[in-house]
Amino acid sequence: MLGRYRTGGGSFRRPFVQGCAMPPIEIRPFRRSDRDQLTALVNAHIDAVLPGVSVSPNAVLGQLERSPDEPIVGPWIVARETLVALRDGVLAAAVHLVRYGDDNRVGADMRGTGELTWLLFRPQEGAVADALCAAGLATLRRLGVTSIHADGGLPAPATYGVPARWPHVAAALDRAGFRPGERIEAVLVADLADLPGATGRPDLALRFELGDNAPRFSAVHGDRVVGHYEVQSDLTAGGTLSRLDGWADTWSLYVEPDFRRRGVATWLVGHAADRLRFGGARRLLDYAVIAPESDVEPGLLPFLTAIGFRELTRTTRGWTLGR
Ligand SMILES: CC(C)(COP(=O)(O)OP(=O)(O)OC[C@H]1O[C@@H](n2cnc3c(N)ncnc32)[C@H](O)[C@@H]1OP(=O)(O)O)[C@@H](O)C(=O)NCCC(=O)NCCS
Repeated sequence: MLGRYRTGGGSFRRPFVQGCAMPPIEIRPFRRSDRDQLTALVNAHIDAVLPGVSVSPNAVLGQLERSPDEPIVGPWIVARETLVALRDGVLAAAVHLVRYGDDNRVGADMRGTGELTWLLFRPQEGAVADALCAAGLATLRRLGVTSIHADGGLPAPATYGVPARWPHVAAALDRAGFRPGERIEAVLVADLADLPGATGRPDLALRFELGDNAPRFSAVHGDRVVGHYEVQSDLTAGGTLSRLDGWADTWSLYVEPDFRRRGVATWLVGHAADRLRFGGARRLLDYAVIAPESDVEPGLLPFLTAIGFRELTRTTRGWTLGR
């Protein structure tokens, strides 16, 4: 520990203030010159969910400017603002705000609403986060929103909702008057080396083609498709998210009820896993709804656990102000 600073690790070196007043907090709109500090804050939150993953300043700026990962709701946004809170010139907290449009092309649930797309801060900066959150809410109210929601959607896979790995964010939202929705999802990961490989089955034929969102493996029994698995083998967005090299992501897995517990999903995953391994993927993500009961995909979580996935975190969605 040297002089005025104590090293908190990497970019988290922060002023060590003892027995004197804390420096004042400045809250202001984000500037491009904040991008490196903001990227460090974003990546600290990603790292708490996805080991070894980080995103570049360009990816962070891209989300602030145009939500490239949100092809459906992104175009509904009519105003965006990012506020930062600095303590003694050090970025301690940031919030990204959006307002959705009022017209009919915007989904009914989101029409006229405002959202904290994310609120990020170092856990020891709860008071700064509270001040920043209040400023963010005032900004959204000035934009005339009908209700305000909050999420933790960062420009990386599997970082959405408020993950259990960010208890400081859940606590700050709670202090600001937000209440979580009922929906809780488990985020799971498998090491591809642990997943089964392709096997032959006389009763099933494999069909492989481009599906709605990613390559799709289908299990065909006679002339009937009895199960499918859609899985994306590259998350690097053409190399711009290079730290996602080796990660793959699941879009959907489904087996017809009368074919369940006959190894169809295991067979599909085996075929997909061989292809993913051949393409150089090492880790595979999947998601399972935990609550509400009515949304739980029957058998999905026990299947994933049985086949070799483990939970990275659980995430709570649907945070709403004043519910
Ligand atoms: C989850 C699902 C894909 C599993 O398919 P499946 O073909 O039945 O799975 P398998 O037969 O390969 O199961 C392999 C193992 O997983 C576990 N497993 C699968 N389903 C299970 C269940 N309902 N309960 C407990 N364990 C289960 C078992 O250990 C099973 O081995 P066993 O049958 O020898 O005990 C299927 O139940 C399904 O499609 N559910 C609905 C999912 C959904 O809604 N998807 C849409 C959103 S993506």
